[in-house]
Amino acid sequence: MDRLAWNPEWETGFPLIDEQHRRLLAEFNEFLDAIEQRVHGQHVANLLEFLLEFLVAHCEEEEIQMRATHYPRLTQHMAFHAHLRSTASRLARASSKDPEALAGAVTAFLHEWVEHHIKVEDRLMAQHLIQCSRQGPKP
Ligand SMILES: [Fe+2]
Ligand SMILES: [Fe+2]
Repeated sequence: MDRLAWNPEWETGFPLIDEQHRRLLAEFNEFLDAIEQRVHGQHVANLLEFLLEFLVAHCEEEEIQMRATHYPRLTQHMAFHAHLRSTASRLARASSKDPEALAGAVTAFLHEWVEHHIKVEDRLMAQHLIQCSRQGPKP
C-alpha cells in the first residue's frame, strides 16, 4: 500500500506544529510497514498505542495554544479533534482483527487527517498563532 510522504505544501508555518505533524506521519508510516511486514501482533499493538498517545498529545498541544490566544474557531477545531480521536481509538480496538483491513482504514484516516484537518483547520489555526506571536502577549 502506498505511503503518504510528507509534502512541504502541508506546512502550516508554525514550527512546533509542523514538527509534530511530520513526526506523526512518520510514525503512521512505520506502523503501516509493520502491518505489511506482518510483524508480531503485540508489536503492532504497541506501535498503535504509541501513535494514539502521540495524536492525543498533539491535539492537546494545539488546544493549549488556541486557548492561550483566544482563537475564535476553538470550538470547531476541538470538534474535529474529538472526531479524529474517536476514529483513531476505533481503529485501535479493531487492530487485533484483520491486518489488511486495518492498513486500509489507517491509510483512509491519514488522508482525511491531512486533507481535511491539516490543510484546512490547522493552517487557519497556525495563521492565527503566527499573527498573535508577532503582536506579542496582550497586556
Ligand atoms: Fe488540529
Ligand atoms: Fe494538528
